[in-house]
Amino acid sequence: QRCAHNAWTVLVGVIGGSGLYNLDNLTLIKQVNPDTPWGKPSSPITIAKAPGGTLVAFLARHGVGHTFPPSAVPARANIAAFKSLGVRLIVAFSAVGSLREEIKPGDFVLPDQIIDRTKGVRPASFFEGTSIVAHAQFGDPFANKLVAFLEGRVRSALEGRDVALHTGKTIVCMEGPQFSTRAESKMYRAWGGDLINMSVLPEAKLAREAEISYALIATATDYDSWRENSESVTASEVFKTLKTNAETSRHVTELIVADLHDAAENGDIISEEAGSMKFSIMPRS
Ligand code: ADE
Repeated sequence: QRCAHNAWTVLVGVIGGSGLYNLDNLTLIKQVNPDTPWGKPSSPITIAKAPGGTLVAFLARHGVGHTFPPSAVPARANIAAFKSLGVRLIVAFSAVGSLREEIKPGDFVLPDQIIDRTKGVRPASFFEGTSIVAHAQFGDPFANKLVAFLEGRVRSALEGRDVALHTGKTIVCMEGPQFSTRAESKMYRAWGGDLINMSVLPEAKLAREAEISYALIATATDYDSWRENSESVTASEVFKTLKTNAETSRHVTELIVADLHDAAENGDIISEEAGSMKFSIMPRS
């Protein structure tokens, strides 16, 4: 058992996106289904043990049977449930479309910026409906130190597999559920978008408000709809790469979880987000 305190020190949370509904390569310890002020999370949270004994908490974003479309994911309950377990950092996986030729279906990406096309549609703050006015810092929407830490670890976990890892990319988060038009897809490229999904928001915003360090491992499934002489994206095209991407995601998680736990315990990679909301609450006059 790596964790010194007690059997329930679980500092690392993993969110699985489309195709990734469990971490069945790890040892199941137990399932919990916490009630939060925002209701139940999308799925019960699985506490699993990685080789060496590190614990990790896993949640299926769309539900275990993929019952929540992106617009209906209870993101506040999901983040609050992790927070209630003591999770300090989250690595979230998500299937994404590629807006760049060099990011091929099957590739993995650690984005560092987001363009929000969901604004105003999804509840995106824990402070909504309260008397507290808060403006979280979000210029760097992902936890910089965590992303930098992940780069080397994910790269070595991918060694020997034909999966490229890209970094420093911008992800567009759209509302859906329909995919983009060709014109929109080209517009997102012109805006500087490299990837597109429907799920990174409000998750990343809520993690920031909860002072949990959050990074996304985007797994490319398709070329969206910008390529002139290609079919525009369909759900069945997305499904083709989901299975392989999910298997790779499980493998990566297994190899990186112990280092992530130790780094979270040591405190440095979570230092920018932990306690950050103290700069965000508006004083009352
Ligand atoms: N998820 C996977 N592929 C996508 C795409 N092309 N657009 C939006 N979300 C996606």
